[in-house]
Amino acid sequence: MAVIADRCPHVDVTVVDINERRIAAWQGDSLPIYEPGLLDVVRRARGRNLFFSTDIEAGIRGADIIFVSVNTPTKTFGEGAGRAADLQYWEKTARQILASATSDKIVVEKSTLPVRTAEAMDRILNSNDRGLHFEVLSNPEFLAEGTAVEDLEQPDRVLIGSRETPAGGRARRAVADLYAAWVPRERILESNVWSAELSKLTANAFLAQRISSINSISALCEATEADVDEVAYAIGADSRIGPRFLKSGVGFGGSCFRKDILNLVYISQSYGLDEVARYWEGVVRMNEWQEARFVRRMLATMFNTVAGKRIALFGFAFKANTGDTREAPALAVTRHLLAEHADVVITDPEALENARLDTAGLDGRLTFEADPYAAARGAHAVAVLTEWDAYRTLDYGRILASMERPAFLFDGRNILDHAKLFEMGFNVYPVGKRAMSHV
Ligand SMILES: NC(=O)c1ccc[n+]([C@@H]2O[C@H](COP(=O)([O-])OP(=O)(O)OC[C@H]3O[C@@H](n4cnc5c(N)ncnc54)[C@H](O)[C@@H]3O)[C@@H](O)[C@H]2O)c1
Repeated sequence: MAVIADRCPHVDVTVVDINERRIAAWQGDSLPIYEPGLLDVVRRARGRNLFFSTDIEAGIRGADIIFVSVNTPTKTFGEGAGRAADLQYWEKTARQILASATSDKIVVEKSTLPVRTAEAMDRILNSNDRGLHFEVLSNPEFLAEGTAVEDLEQPDRVLIGSRETPAGGRARRAVADLYAAWVPRERILESNVWSAELSKLTANAFLAQRISSINSISALCEATEADVDEVAYAIGADSRIGPRFLKSGVGFGGSCFRKDILNLVYISQSYGLDEVARYWEGVVRMNEWQEARFVRRMLATMFNTVAGKRIALFGFAFKANTGDTREAPALAVTRHLLAEHADVVITDPEALENARLDTAGLDGRLTFEADPYAAARGAHAVAVLTEWDAYRTLDYGRILASMERPAFLFDGRNILDHAKLFEMGFNVYPVGKRAMSHV
């Protein structure tokens, strides 16, 4: 919404949220999320045509177009628990729009939703007896955290789905016109509403599938002395495959991949398509296996016990350039290590607060340290779990000097110079590559 406000100065954008703390943070310079370049965008538009408020009713009344971007987590209870999307926030919002609206609205699904949700929303919204008309569109968000501003300013495509009726077409054009202020028209794709909804789930499923595919090969590389980066490079040179999203590591995280695939699995099952469901479920299973396999390798390498050993985790965010830790592989690794009674210390340049919150209920010896050098001091092992640039350029000689011997380095993101670290004296364990060990 900040980018829309920035690029469309003639349009007033009001962001409303029930979370007062978040809205207050959006009004200051310490934004509630870390995203490179976002503060500049917000500062340019804030107070001009970008406003933040907790007055949801007024926000609804004043708007012609409402982008609904509420959370749609995986259900934790009842039918479909662990797979289906929890639509309670979306439905509450729809009912609130219905209660507060005094004029016709275009309601845009910006949240990621199961296919055919728009139909249910349409029924709820248009069940009013006040003569109001609501047109429900699907405009899924394809941004990636860490590069959100860039992705929004130069999107590969914008997708807008609507009903195939004259009113649906008019609403679709109104939203397309907003994006056309900065997105070339040929990149604004239009479709029916179900295709738009399903495209978002499918895009995430395909992206995650590439990671699980290369991670499955990383295990085979470790067993055969092939090198996963060499394999990824060789296959990525095939223009049909392409080089991106083939980086092997400890596993994918983030709030979306897992939940969206599970959602796809659940929808497939609900249509009786069990083979389809099982196929995509494999992507999630492979990811869980990779996280567990990473810890099993640590354990096997460190003489089958990490009990009482200090282990420093470099990075907790699910990827670099974000403070977001949702579904981060680091959380699974932390859990496994604590279960083995390791003394775990977490460091991260942006995600330490979230790491604290995520691990609050865990039993065991767990500490947090902003400084990576202090985190590594006295450690038996360092495990790199987030590909922060800062970790590439640390003084590893200094780190080694402060660690216990033998000193192990598990590079869960394959970002370090392994040969150099080995020469220095580290025992180096990358993912999908030959280990380099002195012991
Ligand atoms: N985070 C991403 O990278 C990303 C990318 C693409 C799509 N999405 C989708 O966007 C949606 C939101 O994701 P997110 O990561 O921003 O989630 P989030 O949990 O960070 O934000 C959701 C916000 O909605 C607010 N909210 C909940 N109910 C509300 C209500 N009734 N009225 C007003 N505000 C309400 C919450 O307070 C919260 O601030 C999800 O469906 C997600 O799948 C997220």
